This record gives sequence, structure tokens and C-alpha cells, in this order.
Amino acid sequence: MINKLTIRTPNDMHVHFRDNDLLSLVVPQTDRYFNYCIVMPNLIPPITNQEMAIRYLNRIKKHIKKGLKPLMTFYLNEKIKIDDMIKAYKNKNIFALKLYPKGATTNSEMGVKNLENIFKILSSMEENNIPLLIHGEDTDKNIDIFDREKSFIDKYLFKIIREFPNLRIVLEHITTSDAVHFVKENKNIAATITPHHLASNRNDMLVGGIRPHLYCLPILKRRNHQEALIKIATSGNKKFFLGTDSAPHDIKLKENDCGCAGVFNTVNSIEILTQIFDQQNSLKNLENFVSNNSANFYNLQQNESTITLIKMDMPINFPKSLKKNNVILKIYKPNFPVFWKIKK
Ligand code: NCD
Ligand code: ZN
Repeated sequence: MINKLTIRTPNDMHVHFRDNDLLSLVVPQTDRYFNYCIVMPNLIPPITNQEMAIRYLNRIKKHIKKGLKPLMTFYLNEKIKIDDMIKAYKNKNIFALKLYPKGATTNSEMGVKNLENIFKILSSMEENNIPLLIHGEDTDKNIDIFDREKSFIDKYLFKIIREFPNLRIVLEHITTSDAVHFVKENKNIAATITPHHLASNRNDMLVGGIRPHLYCLPILKRRNHQEALIKIATSGNKKFFLGTDSAPHDIKLKENDCGCAGVFNTVNSIEILTQIFDQQNSLKNLENFVSNNSANFYNLQQNESTITLIKMDMPINFPKSLKKNNVILKIYKPNFPVFWKIKK
């Protein structure tokens, strides 16, 4: 039995830092556990030009002590100026662009309604090798919320890869076996998977009472989809890697008549993942999923530093929340015990 494991420091290829007061609460957590991270641009207003990206990065940097390397993104919509995008990418002020279908999720009102309107931008991204990150959900109000990911793939993703075969794409926070299959079978596309979509399914959210802290988008799916995600994540397949999609909202906005979507999981994500990989007898692939695969796909240097995980005799007691002034962020908790702990 393995009870100690040393791996390269993880990368978080999808994280929401928000802004202002929340930064001081959230950024230090990612800084503790990760080397590279890709920072989502869905602020109000969203990050849509080089100047905004630089200023946002500077606000984030004030809270970094250990050496976290944030990689910035633009929020892709009709407002993007192609010249500014190319400059920002060449100057390394942005790393990728994020596509949100209009109305898909938190702060996506400025998202894209009609894909054809951004074809010129996609074409320039393809030419300049700039990655496209996609929130893959069809927001047509007639589509059932549990079918939105599959519908997006069928209606839009096939079209995007046909039009732009050399565009590097990451399908973010995938939740279905349909997405696993699509990413496996097509070229130039990878996917991020979150800890909570590996650890939880819709029964965890809805049976025996509704648990607002498990509500996120794309919504948790049924168990067979969860199993497909676990299988591919623990397989070592190079096209799948960690993006926590850690998305903090104050407790008042989660426990609400109309609660916000988003799970805050930065604090315990690596330990939860280690537990899942251990259960699958796949600890040897943990480093691939949390660190190597993303570095490979994005041509980043492999992290030189390492972390060590220890298997304890008793389950870990994670903190329940983070607090500052009157903000409370409830920390994600799976419904199984976690025995692995990061060595301090
Ligand atoms: C994210 C957020 O709150 O910004 N919410 C979520 O449920 N994942 C947005 C997103 O990534 O969809
Ligand atoms: Zn997200």
C-alpha cells in the first residue's frame, strides 16, 4: 500500500479569482497549492483588452507570496479588437481567450449570442496559435439543463473544429461521457475536469435535501457520467487535466432563493483528487492529471518544485469556510472521507 507520494507541483488551468476584497481571500489559497493557473475573465465588466488584463494581473499579484504564475485570459465577444489581442498574446499579457455562450453561467451576459459574429477572431486565433477555452453549454431555453453540454457539442463544437481545424481548443470543466468521447476522438482539443465533477454527482446535490454549495455550471450529472470522468482522468490520457473551476460566491448568494452557480474548492482539491486516484489504484497517474498534462498541452515548462502527500490513519478535517469581514466562502466537501494530506 502506498502511503506517501511526491509529485510535481500542480497547475490549476481554470480558476475564478473575482476582484477587490475577494482577491485577498482567494488568491493566497491558489498560491499555496499551485504553480501555474489560468485566470478566468468573467468580471463585471469582463476583461476584453490588454490594458484591463494587465491591470487585473497587477491587482492579483499583490496577494502572491509563494510564486504562483497567473496566466490571464480575455473574455471573448464581439468587442475584442484583433490587433489588441495579437499584441497582448505576443507580449504574454494574455494566454488564451474564453468563450462563454451568452447567458450560460455567472456573469456571462456579455457572452456570444451568434458564433458567426466571432469567426474572424477565431480565424486570427488559429493563425496566431492562441488557445480557445470554451464553456460548452447550449443556452437555448428549450434545452434541458442536463443536456446542455451534449447539445453544445452536437450543434456548435463540430462546426468550430471543422471551420478551424488548427485552432487549439480546451473544452472546460467537462461533465459528460459525450464530452470525454469528443475530446478523445478529435485533434487539437483537450479538456479540463474539476475535482467536484469527479467526486460528486447530481444525487449528492439533490437527494435528501437540496445542497446549494454543490450547485455549479455545468450542473453535476448522473453517476454514469461521473464514472466516465473518473475513468479518463485517472487513465493518464494526456488530453485531460485539472482545472478546479473554483468559483467563490459569498454564502448569502449561495443560500438564497435564486442561488449562484459555483463551487469553491481550492483549499482541498489536491487532497480530494489524491483520494479518488487512490481509490482507482491510479496514484501513478495523479501527477499527469494535476501537473504534467497541462504543461505539455500548453507548452509550459514542467514544474520543478514538488509537493508530498501523506496518507493518514484518520480522515482529514478540512476547514468549513474562509471568512473575511462579512464575506463567508463555504469550502466544497465531498461525501466520502479523505485520508490524504499535503505535507507542510
Ligand atoms: C462560474 C462563476 O461563478 O464564475 N460558475 C460555475 O458554476 N462554474 C462560471 C463558470 O465557470 O461557469
Ligand atoms: Zn469557470
